[in-house]
Amino acid sequence: MPVTIVLGSQWGDEGKGKVVDALAEGADYVVRYQGGANAGHTIRLPDERQYVLHLIPSGIFHSNCICVIGNGVVIDPVALRTEIQMVEEAGFTVKGRLFISHNAHLIMPYHRQLDKASEARLASGTNGQSVGTTGRGIGPAYEDKFSRKGIRIVDLLDRASLREKLRHNVAEKNELLKKFYASDELCDVDQIIRDYEVFDEEMDPYITDTALMLCKAVGEGKNILLEGAQAALLDIDFGTYPFVTSSNPTAGGACTGSGIPPTAITDVVAVVKAYATRVGNGPFPTELLDETGERLRARGREYGATTGRPRRCGWLDAVAVRYTSMINGVRSIALTKLDVLSGESEIKLCTKYERTSDGKILDHFTTDLRALAGIRPIYESYEGWSADALDGISRRADLPPVVERYLSAIEKEVGAPLGLISLGAGRNESIVEEDFLAARSLA
Ligand code: IMP
Repeated sequence: MPVTIVLGSQWGDEGKGKVVDALAEGADYVVRYQGGANAGHTIRLPDERQYVLHLIPSGIFHSNCICVIGNGVVIDPVALRTEIQMVEEAGFTVKGRLFISHNAHLIMPYHRQLDKASEARLASGTNGQSVGTTGRGIGPAYEDKFSRKGIRIVDLLDRASLREKLRHNVAEKNELLKKFYASDELCDVDQIIRDYEVFDEEMDPYITDTALMLCKAVGEGKNILLEGAQAALLDIDFGTYPFVTSSNPTAGGACTGSGIPPTAITDVVAVVKAYATRVGNGPFPTELLDETGERLRARGREYGATTGRPRRCGWLDAVAVRYTSMINGVRSIALTKLDVLSGESEIKLCTKYERTSDGKILDHFTTDLRALAGIRPIYESYEGWSADALDGISRRADLPPVVERYLSAIEKEVGAPLGLISLGAGRNESIVEEDFLAARSLA
């Protein structure tokens, strides 16, 4: 039975929430496997109500779905509490449908403080360039995880040892904040202990061994979706380091972040936006710093769902998406926001790069920042289509030939077929291929 990874193939904000929500209709489980409340997955319900999920998987608005926050996620209990309330107020049951890994790490107030302090320090440094993080404490929480100082949900059970660990961590972080970052905003260990004891009681009904739960579900042949947050080019190993997030949104992260074995994965779907965006700093070869970029931002409402920051916009970079498809073993593409391109007279697709130093043509992406700084994109140009050309279309065969030419070029350049083409934010505004649905037992 299908165990499908759905992941972002660019720099995030591709519209993963909508795609996962669409596929969740036939899924038994939807699992978040990495990241934290830095994500912002937007879902529009049929009655036009729109919600942004940061931690809860995007299957929560389908009552048939069990939602799992896996061990690879870093959980901010304040954000989780707010989100559970939001979903309940929207009229959906959360208890008995949401499960959280006992091995997931917790984001602490000092992680958020350190994230902001580190960014401020980088911004005022010699090259003045911060990463442009979301400020949600993600990097510092993963730092603690990998230096084996992190506090996991399971640690909340043993209050005496929790207190000891927290005292140690807070002393260390306060020292860092005071001495290295010259901050006078320090953490109060007793306050943190009081707050997290309350969270422990609130979260208790949701906590379980989710790896065990998911392996059992795999054994029972359940239909499982693994929902990536951020995206492949923000991956700590495969992204444009150091301008990346601190986890593995790529396919491997889906296994380590959930406990589902690699041999159980049956499919990988890449969510690709019909153009490109990036929020935060770092290389972006096809960025448009002109009126076209501004039009895409305005029409695509390209402002961060988590931070509200304006996103940088540009043309679709097929060299980059070819690379992320390769490292993720992508079998099909969910193309999103095609409607945002409607009304453009010309649409460009980057298919190769040219190395400016010697004119050499490159057809492979590189994560070497110096090499990326020395290339220029080579575009293929496509005729655009009118502002209303996509209105009311629900079958690919009915798309105007000019649109089809752009879509076929994406398939050819990336090397994977389009299974879903999203033409708007609503659940029904998509073209979905029969075999794409059949692969997830939705047909
Ligand atoms: P962090 O994940 O908050 O540490 O941020 C690291 C980088 O990832 C920054 O460039 C952020 O803008 C970017 N980032 C993190 N989460 C998202 C997301 O959900 N969408 C797009 N970019 C993100």
